[in-house]
Amino acid sequence: MDYAENILGTIGNTPMVKMNKLVEDLPCLVLAKYETFNPGNSVKDRMALQMVEDAEADGRLKPGGTIIEGTSGNTGMGLALAAIVKGYKCIFVLSDKQSKEKMDILRAVGAEVVVCPTDVEPTDPRSYYSVSKRLAEETPNSWYVNQYDNPSNCKAHFLSTGPEIWEQTDGKVTHFVVGVGTGGTISGVGSYLKMKNPNVKVWGIDTYGSVFKKYHETGIFDENEIYSYITEGIGEDILPANVNFDVIDGFTKVTDKDAAVYTQKLAKEEGMFLGNSAGAAIKGVLQLKEHFKPEDVVVVLFHDHGSRYVGKMFNDDWMRERGFIEDEITLAADLIKEHSDKPLVTVKTEELVSHAIERMKKYKISQIPVKDITGFVGSVDETDLFRRYVEDKNISDLPIKDVMGAPFPIVNKNTKIEDLSKLINKDNNAVLVELDNGKHHIITKHDIISAL
Ligand SMILES: Cc1ncc(COP(=O)(O)O)c(C=O)c1O
Repeated sequence: MDYAENILGTIGNTPMVKMNKLVEDLPCLVLAKYETFNPGNSVKDRMALQMVEDAEADGRLKPGGTIIEGTSGNTGMGLALAAIVKGYKCIFVLSDKQSKEKMDILRAVGAEVVVCPTDVEPTDPRSYYSVSKRLAEETPNSWYVNQYDNPSNCKAHFLSTGPEIWEQTDGKVTHFVVGVGTGGTISGVGSYLKMKNPNVKVWGIDTYGSVFKKYHETGIFDENEIYSYITEGIGEDILPANVNFDVIDGFTKVTDKDAAVYTQKLAKEEGMFLGNSAGAAIKGVLQLKEHFKPEDVVVVLFHDHGSRYVGKMFNDDWMRERGFIEDEITLAADLIKEHSDKPLVTVKTEELVSHAIERMKKYKISQIPVKDITGFVGSVDETDLFRRYVEDKNISDLPIKDVMGAPFPIVNKNTKIEDLSKLINKDNNAVLVELDNGKHHIITKHDIISAL
């Protein structure tokens, strides 16, 4: 029989998978070290178990103790699995930018989760660094893991991930590329591979908003480099002890948008349903193209699984809201897609100006088409009404037909945006689109500007 004694026995020995479509433009072999095969679905299981075992060995973690850590989720999962098997409690502190799925997953494996604000200084008492430290001081028989500075983090990758990559590539690996957060993965794997072959090049993937790249290139910790960003798992506003800058040959920064878009591409073009830092990592590999020769063997490590990002990078509405997906807008129909199910607000020629104003307020709109039994015969516009009101305060009791302007031009739904824009000018702020069912919809100057 072939079985593990418990779930911890399944950590490590993850597969190596050749990348295909996404790296077609690169001259070399690109292999993915596919860490979602770990039981907690991330590479972090390796270092979590190592940190627990080392803390048990030297008495920092005692029987029945509470494990406390600031974690973006994956380390928490690894620690929680170790805690379940070995009989510890867990309290995890997360920043509020982490996905809800990550928090729910940690609760699912029995951990207590404390959420802290992202946009505060690391030294702020509300920051997740400070809160984790304080909880560790206040909780009896607790052990504060501190994955950032805990040497067992790096050691785990030196002892397992690094040797696996060396053996799986038969010692032919020439480049190792990976996202950098605590630095444990890059430093542990990087130092093992360089020990075996000093010519192996080690590249870190950084984000915009993080200090690593500039610090590596200049030795300057530049606070101006720090701002909030969306990419999860990589980049820091501190220099963790686990980032060994000496084994890193260079960093490349990947934008939030590229990281998110490439997270989707990995799933759709390679069948690799992975986390956001994997998207950043593969885009980083593509950015490094000029460093690779045909005979090179590039290993990129993918940290975690896509399921933790279904509400974010795999949700097109979330992507669209951040401008990460740009729908092609070429026709009038594309502009009204979002609100085509809503009825068109109109006013009749015999209604009073006050009715039109009420409707503008209620629906937060600035112009309304005017109808009579023959169809659209005019329009009223907020600016125009305001100008008239200044001249004559009694205007609100006048019938619309006395104040209305020319009707809005009517176009069909296949009218090109360029042609539609030509109809919008200083005298005319909107056009009407005739739909297949004979109904009409409005496109305003504002709709066109927002879409562009
Ligand atoms: C999804 C994800 N990617 C990348 C990293 C960075 O790995 P490391 O902390 O080993 O630098 C982490 C670590 O938290 C992570 O959770």
